[in-house]
Amino acid sequence: MAKKITIFDTTLRDGEQAPGASMSVNQKIEMALALERLGVDIIEAGFPISSPVQFEAVNKIGQKVKNSKIAGLSRCTKEDVKAVYEALRDNKNRVLHLFIATSPIHRKYKLKKSKKEIIKTVTETLKYAQNYFNFIEFSPEDATRTELDFLLQILRTALINGATTINIPDTVGYAIPHEFGQFIKKIFEDLKKTKDFTLSIHCHNDLGLAVANSLAAIQSGATQVEVTLNGIGERAGNCALEEVIMSLKVRKDIFDVYTNIKTELLYPTSKLLQHITGFILPRNKPIFGENVFSHESGIHQHGVISKKETYEIMKPETIGRVVETLVMGRHSGRHAFRNKLKQYGISLNKKEFERAFAKFIEIADKKKEVNDEDILSIVSSILGKEANGYKLKYFYVYTGNSLIPSATVKIIKGENEFISASTGDGPVDALFKAIDSALNLKPRLKEYVIQAIGKGKDAQGQVNLTIEIEGKCLNGKAISTDIVEASALAYLRAINRYYWQKMFFKEAKI
Ligand code: KIV
Ligand code: ZN
Repeated sequence: MAKKITIFDTTLRDGEQAPGASMSVNQKIEMALALERLGVDIIEAGFPISSPVQFEAVNKIGQKVKNSKIAGLSRCTKEDVKAVYEALRDNKNRVLHLFIATSPIHRKYKLKKSKKEIIKTVTETLKYAQNYFNFIEFSPEDATRTELDFLLQILRTALINGATTINIPDTVGYAIPHEFGQFIKKIFEDLKKTKDFTLSIHCHNDLGLAVANSLAAIQSGATQVEVTLNGIGERAGNCALEEVIMSLKVRKDIFDVYTNIKTELLYPTSKLLQHITGFILPRNKPIFGENVFSHESGIHQHGVISKKETYEIMKPETIGRVVETLVMGRHSGRHAFRNKLKQYGISLNKKEFERAFAKFIEIADKKKEVNDEDILSIVSSILGKEANGYKLKYFYVYTGNSLIPSATVKIIKGENEFISASTGDGPVDALFKAIDSALNLKPRLKEYVIQAIGKGKDAQGQVNLTIEIEGKCLNGKAISTDIVEASALAYLRAINRYYWQKMFFKEAKI
């Protein structure tokens, strides 16, 4: 029978420790509620003794989240344990996460404690903690660089004195999958003689092996995995929640386990975290990267058009994504071009198609990426129809921290001009509202991501957004040195798509 894997998410504790990822109390609450919706079993909300803000965040999350257990981090001191208890006093599902370093290098240079002293500290702290917690997780920090006999000794001590979960951290991302799997097996086989407990792993990504190590540990008997969304965390980060979840799902034939994660909420939850922290993911990041469901080479495009599964092992909808699959460029072949036309409901006869394709190749040789406007203007010139879409003639934006942001736009389409102005919550919001009012439209902005392309002051801003009109999701992307302009151009691009889809669908020769 399939085994349940408990998902312990530490985005708000270990993840937040990453430089630049810190969040305000309200942001942490918003994220915790999103993790609860996602189906995370345990949310590590913070390290209460470390600061009043951390304490407040753990306390508020403990009050608001109902369906996930809430954990607080604690060193092996009574003061730390008390702080977690105070923060989570009213939460019946509170979890204490107690840790102490055990490896020789940490004992000598950081703790300055002997093995004996460490055992004594763990025993005393756990005895005290038992009075306040039903769920206690014990972590020997830097476990993978600790002598096995000492590690087993301290873990047995933890179990005898009240720990309910044993977590094995690969704190510095030192382990190698096969070795880690065997290590976990030895620990599991030894400790299960002492009492029933949950075996957990916590892997860091210094060698890019956090996910591989976690999967190896699951195969060796671990039933809890500690993760962060988007893999954020100290240095190279932690084991990425989405990568583990999708590995377990896509390769169910190997793992035969299940989790409570609602995979269709993965992408929106990742976007929320990116939005809150400003941590934008690289294009090739597994599962969430912009390129993950894009295919540019002709052979791949041909395969994907005939049958998606030729080059895609999961569906974007499974993780809640709406994506543009085919990137049109010089490697795209006739199949991809025909498919792109099909997306707009355009059907050309053989002669028209060959002329259009020749023009497309001509443009693709000059440009890195041929966008939909290019393709539609090729088609419109061949069909003799006007499909140039809305163009931004100019915009003005007034903004500041002591005035209500406002925007004015002039948009043109052929001979027609559309002018309007609006206020908004910020300059981009005001501009989008001005465009809506000029074009008499009410799109819903579903997604908006801004990313720096290049480095330093010369960087350009790239905006990627998705709007929804009449139940249709439309993407728009634009780059400019001015992020407000890039936003307007991306927005108009998505709106043009909507009209083009309508126009060509009705008017194209079928
Ligand atoms: O990486 C680590 O060792 C930790 C512990 C506190 C579990 O984050
Ligand atoms: Zn860690």
